[in-house]
Amino acid sequence: MLNVVVLVSGGGTNLQAVIDAVESGKITNTKITGVISNNTGAYALERAAKHGIANLCISPKQFGDREEFNRKFLEAIDQMRPDLIVLAGFLVVIPPEMIERYRNRIINIHPSLIPSFCGTGFYGLKVHEAALSRGVKVVGATVHFVDEGTDTGPIILQKAVEVQADDTPEVLQRRVMEQAEWKILPRAIDLIANGKVSVVDGLAVIKE
Ligand code: GRF
Repeated sequence: MLNVVVLVSGGGTNLQAVIDAVESGKITNTKITGVISNNTGAYALERAAKHGIANLCISPKQFGDREEFNRKFLEAIDQMRPDLIVLAGFLVVIPPEMIERYRNRIINIHPSLIPSFCGTGFYGLKVHEAALSRGVKVVGATVHFVDEGTDTGPIILQKAVEVQADDTPEVLQRRVMEQAEWKILPRAIDLIANGKVSVVDGLAVIKE
């Protein structure tokens, strides 16, 4: 059984997609043991509570400096004993010690087809604004392992989504979530839970 801890900052629609997939059996061999938010007001925490999932808030704002936050954050994670940490719209930089300790056991959902529109500064609506400004006709989402870089870890799954002529960043963001993010994030967790993902020479390999 894969113990999963999900880290969130906002609405938690990706978290909801994962919860629904576990409850419906689309994701097997998996238990969501906890949800951690850096933001007390995150609706994602309510979603967790509604489904009886342990949840807590821990924010850099609660601590004197970043090192102290990083230590307490890692302690909170360790106590939940995760086999996999899922970043589902989590906006805090993951401490290097956590990346080291949980190497190839942290995944992130990014709302573009990496390596397009990713890296520092590409988060939330900014990703979709940049895609529309560049005039690309296809966008999408990526699930990848987290390494020390920003959006640079091994790519596990990607799904493409078409841009429509009259798209706004908000409309495009919603379509990418519905057609890509909410599908590939649960799928990636199911693959990992069933031992189908490995990392070879820095690349993720999937055996279905
Ligand atoms: C998603 O677009 C995700 O790809 C990005 O942040 C957003 C989170 O949305 N990293 P939600 O909190 O899951 O609704």
